[in-house]
Amino acid sequence: MNDEHKQYIVNNELMDREHRVLIDILVRLNDGKDVTFIIFDLLKYSNEHFAHEEELMTSSDYPMNESHTKQHRWFVARILRVIKSKTYNAADVRSFLYMWLLNHINVCDRDLAEHIKSRSENERTS
Ligand SMILES: [Fe+2]
Ligand SMILES: [Fe+2]
Repeated sequence: MNDEHKQYIVNNELMDREHRVLIDILVRLNDGKDVTFIIFDLLKYSNEHFAHEEELMTSSDYPMNESHTKQHRWFVARILRVIKSKTYNAADVRSFLYMWLLNHINVCDRDLAEHIKSRSENERTS
């Protein structure tokens, strides 16, 4: 695991494992080759990952479920817009994807992971 991955750790096994895959897809954008192909990969994997997180939110009665899910939908719509536009600037797309994911993982996903952890701790002590 390198530093790139470490800053995204939220201490939830499933989320961290899937975030690592997402980050690896983003890293592939750095060499500037097959950008459209990689963006399709990102779209596909994001959809899978978001569905898993949304299951976690539902099963743990996460109070921010709605706003968190909205962010996922917005991101998917944004990637679809990029794909449809065809004339995008690869560097702009890359920096947008990095910024969005970094921010989303560090704020929203981290909050969800903490909620899940505190819930399981409460269940263990009650
Ligand atoms: Fe996530
Ligand atoms: Fe998320």
